[in-house]
Amino acid sequence: MKNNISLYKRVLTKDQLVNKVRAEFKQKYGNEPKNITLTPGRINIIGEHTDYNDGLAMPAAIDRWICAAICKSSSASLTIYSLNYNESAEISYHIKDNFQEIWKQLATAAINVIKAEFGIEEGAKMTIGGNIPIGCGLSSSSAFVISITQTICHFFSIQMKDMQLAHLCQKIENLALGTAVGCLDQYGIILSKKNNLLVIDFYDNSIKYISGILNKCSWIVVNSQVQRELSESAYIQRVNECKEGLEILQKKFNISTFRDIDLPMLQALIIRHNVLYKRLCHVIGENGRVMKMQIQLEEGNKKQVGQILQESHKSLKTLYEVSCKEIDYTIKLSENFDGWYGGRIIGGGFGGCSIHLLAHQVVEDYRGYITSRYSKKYKMIPDILPVTFPGGLQYL
Ligand code: GLA
Repeated sequence: MKNNISLYKRVLTKDQLVNKVRAEFKQKYGNEPKNITLTPGRINIIGEHTDYNDGLAMPAAIDRWICAAICKSSSASLTIYSLNYNESAEISYHIKDNFQEIWKQLATAAINVIKAEFGIEEGAKMTIGGNIPIGCGLSSSSAFVISITQTICHFFSIQMKDMQLAHLCQKIENLALGTAVGCLDQYGIILSKKNNLLVIDFYDNSIKYISGILNKCSWIVVNSQVQRELSESAYIQRVNECKEGLEILQKKFNISTFRDIDLPMLQALIIRHNVLYKRLCHVIGENGRVMKMQIQLEEGNKKQVGQILQESHKSLKTLYEVSCKEIDYTIKLSENFDGWYGGRIIGGGFGGCSIHLLAHQVVEDYRGYITSRYSKKYKMIPDILPVTFPGGLQYL
């Protein structure tokens, strides 16, 4: 989604956001909402571009939210007002509208899927607003889809298991945006638990939880302000390259899934399919890093945690080729900063955010250090946000 800065420039706290969404609801519709939901954004500590390859990842929901308020209406449609875009849309259960705006396309896809899956045709009125930076690798689009879908389903008493909701929302997003995203964002948002990171194995969808808190450390997100659009980016190309690499190896070796591939097998790609070789090398290496990261986090070894983040960035930059010069520069600057343990680009890539592990006491100095140097070089002010892990959806 294109960034609309009306809310995001003066970042609202969670409570301010809820109050604003509630007040706007009253003003627009003349009554109090019946339900209010909060859907978080997410970061991913490690395990990038592994979800659509049966791999491993380690996401967590963060304290940035999309807030939605809802009540019933008598029409056969959803009336929705977005605070971020300062616009309304009327989405009919029966008439197909071709909206230009992505947020309306996402909302329409959600309504169509909810109707097809659960036969819902009851009208509702909603207001929705968020303080998740939009289009920056913090899953604002996924949170938006989950927010609409779950706010409606919860309101109309449709019970769903978390996994079912995650897969439904993945389907909605891919339908609306023409992407082929995996389930990292949906699992990270829906299945999160307070102060924990998820360790997801996408091969069998099994999930473990480990603590995301490291003594005297902070997790920091740096928003490069470089906009990225998953649908327009080379994301789909990466998905296809991985598929092609796997198919070639399946013909040469007795393997069926990505998880059967080991590093020596990749030699078969190195000469004639060098690009595919690099992509698969990243995925296999990244899975290994998720396993290593789990051990280092459990043992509280900050230096090793930072080291693994740096290895991941290098791999995303040189093998998977999804970084950008601005984020590479941020990492390079950080390497000379005392108290910085490590960092890497997160999400789909090609811009957006990076995640960093820092000693608590240097966070404010780091903010000044990065902001002055980065803005001098790129004439953009990076947004530096410490993140905590509040757990998944909340119902007020
Ligand atoms: C985007 C997608 C996710 C995942 C990441 C890369 O965020 O939505 O499914 O593939 O990129 O790890």
